[in-house]
Amino acid sequence: MIKVANLYSGYGKLKVLFDVSTATEPGRITAVVGPNGAGKTTLLNSIMGLATIYSGKIMLEDRDITGMPTHKVARLGVAYVPQLFSVFANLLVEENLKIAAYMLPEERMRDRLELVYSLFPVLKEFRNRKAGTLSGGERRMLAISMGLMKEPKILLLDEITTDLAPIMAKKVLEKVVELRDTLKLTILLVEQYAVRALEIADKAYLLVSGSIRYEGNPQELLQHPEFSKLYLGVA
Ligand SMILES: Nc1ncnc2c1ncn2[C@@H]1O[C@H](COP(=O)(O)OP(=O)(O)OP(=O)(O)O)[C@@H](O)[C@H]1O
Ligand SMILES: [Mg+2]
Repeated sequence: MIKVANLYSGYGKLKVLFDVSTATEPGRITAVVGPNGAGKTTLLNSIMGLATIYSGKIMLEDRDITGMPTHKVARLGVAYVPQLFSVFANLLVEENLKIAAYMLPEERMRDRLELVYSLFPVLKEFRNRKAGTLSGGERRMLAISMGLMKEPKILLLDEITTDLAPIMAKKVLEKVVELRDTLKLTILLVEQYAVRALEIADKAYLLVSGSIRYEGNPQELLQHPEFSKLYLGVA
């Protein structure tokens, strides 16, 4: 679905990613984990036309989207839920959802809204509340739902569990699994808190200092010496 090949990218003169190659699988969850500053967000920004690409290639199915402007990538069916995504706090939950789907004809918007409400009953319950009154976890669900309103084929999720209590983080990730299973969505998620992301992922990458250090089975990555060193402090 999205294939990144030998990507070197960054911001202006600041080089962040070095020879990064990743591939998502259709209808699967791919996780990219790594410590602060590894370049996880930059990988997603590169896909969305928000970073400087020095060389390499990004393919969406058969289409070359390297350096394509953000709105065009979005139009091709890629929805991006950025890190620290902020909802419109003074608008109602339902208004937030509708704004996210402003480009859809009325009828499709209504269908999507029903779908989102069936997946996230809590948002239906709170649809007439201001988004600013939601809890952290509910707000994260709203952010993901705003991505879903765009009828995406692929969902890019950046740190959707950061700052959430463990129980809430688990709930949010269970929702991601549900999206994969019910909508057959292709999901690329990046997470600093690796263990819980790896528990739900079908495929994993370890990104350290801008380079891929591991690619493969998420369970195996949990056992990998490099992973233990980074996350458990084992020399
Ligand atoms: N918009 C930007 N402009 C300039 N430099 C940036 C920008 N975004 C990130 N950087 C720099 O790029 C490097 C990689 O950052 P990035 O945000 O990709 O890492 P990350 O793995 O997502 O980290 P975190 O886990 O903290 O979110 C950092 O040195 C950061 O300061
Ligand atoms: Mg980041």
